[in-house]
Amino acid sequence: MTHDALPSPTAASEGSAPWRLPLSTQELSQGLAAERVVELEIAHGNGDLIKVFKALEIAGPFTVLSPWELQDETGRHLIHAGGYAAMPFGEMYPPLVSFMRQYLDTNTSMGLPQQSAATWRAALETNLVALLAHQAPSHADSQVFFSNSGAEAVEAAIKFVKAARSRASYLINFSKAYHGKTTGALSLTPNPEFQEPFKPLLPNIITLPYGDSRALLSKVRELGPDKVAGIVLEPIQGEGGVIHPPADFLPAVEHLRREYGILVVADEIQSGLGRTGHWFASVAGGLDPDVITLAKPLGGGIVPIGATIARKAIVKQALGGLNSKRHSSTFGGGSLAMAVGLKSLELLVENNLAERARHLGERGLARLQALQARYPEFLKTARSAGMLFALQLQPVINPKLIPGQAELVSQLGSTLAIRSLHLAGIHACYTQNAFRIVRLTPALTIPDALFETMFDRVEEAARSYPKAWQMLRKTPLKTLLDLAKLALR
Ligand SMILES: Cc1ncc(COP(=O)(O)O)c(C=O)c1O
Repeated sequence: MTHDALPSPTAASEGSAPWRLPLSTQELSQGLAAERVVELEIAHGNGDLIKVFKALEIAGPFTVLSPWELQDETGRHLIHAGGYAAMPFGEMYPPLVSFMRQYLDTNTSMGLPQQSAATWRAALETNLVALLAHQAPSHADSQVFFSNSGAEAVEAAIKFVKAARSRASYLINFSKAYHGKTTGALSLTPNPEFQEPFKPLLPNIITLPYGDSRALLSKVRELGPDKVAGIVLEPIQGEGGVIHPPADFLPAVEHLRREYGILVVADEIQSGLGRTGHWFASVAGGLDPDVITLAKPLGGGIVPIGATIARKAIVKQALGGLNSKRHSSTFGGGSLAMAVGLKSLELLVENNLAERARHLGERGLARLQALQARYPEFLKTARSAGMLFALQLQPVINPKLIPGQAELVSQLGSTLAIRSLHLAGIHACYTQNAFRIVRLTPALTIPDALFETMFDRVEEAARSYPKAWQMLRKTPLKTLLDLAKLALR
């Protein structure tokens, strides 16, 4: 069918003027004023979130200058260290974009091949399993289930574990864990702010202190190993504030896995595929997980992909034989996403970006530590895992001055830190489970010189506010009043 064969828009309602959508793609191609974009977002999107950014004068929208640089609506140059670890190459990375162009021009595969085998999906399944098996050989015949986000990858993992150990009712997770915000994943994300209004969530979740192998061993003994279906963990906690567990933790989990057959899910959505300096941080830390969840970098910062990799026996329990439709996703495994995932994985591996992340991670941490020594009243501590950097700032208000509001004070601190870094020329990330921490997650391909400039700019922020509370003092009163209005809502 050619476009000429489409019915004319007026055919259905003879006589009356056709109803038009408020914004046309043609209009957008000529650009939309920044204030109008913010207005529309406040009216019809997650309005209060955008209001916070508006109050801070960092609402954008931002323009992409290069894969690693942005420009805000006032013309300010920003180094892109945002994206929550989901931008492995930065924005619109030319090698990925030219591959996509070629894909769009030449692809002959079905877009959403739900009822057939599919070339792109087959290739990505194969390459992911090969990469994993190269690190953890027991995974040579593992299988992959694709979805559209990290949280969905975790949902699939929960279902796989439940089906494979259906007589065991408990799942163990850890303090400060972040596994996503869909209902099942949220049940494993023990943050009262996120969970409270949505309770009851999944039952029989036991939350233990992260990294405490003794507490874990003793709880498993107390519950009875046969009652524990699975342990779900992040090998390095990203949203918890870039927390490495003690060296004995992952081996202790591995012991439980081997000794009792308790299934272990390693959530590598943030830590995996290079960001923390390893393809799989869990495997590097001494674990041979039964299920691995991946997402963020797999989509190359352009398309959404979630992937749940599990051992064959587990997949068989969950989806074997006539049960193969028990879990599905209309869009999961779609050809465009798979093609982009395939190219992203290839770019990560062929450019050995895990190694680069490890290298630059050490250099960046050294710079942050030097900065911490010079400005201890601005920066309390700095941590990193490869190119996942955490800056824990000093409080902007002494929490004792506002009793019972420690959380609010921390939130204000990280909010002002994001603003201060923006003013210094860095687009940084909040940390969902650790409010006083901001993270820098630059692209793994960022040029060396820009990487150094990013730390120069952190230093510039520290010079402007050598004591963290000065960020508060130098914030316009209107901004503070607008934030207070939102906080008191
Ligand atoms: C470890 C981990 N798991 C799961 C998720 C949820 O991923 P998504 O936001 O794509 O649902 C995240 C997101 O930050 C994450 O860091």
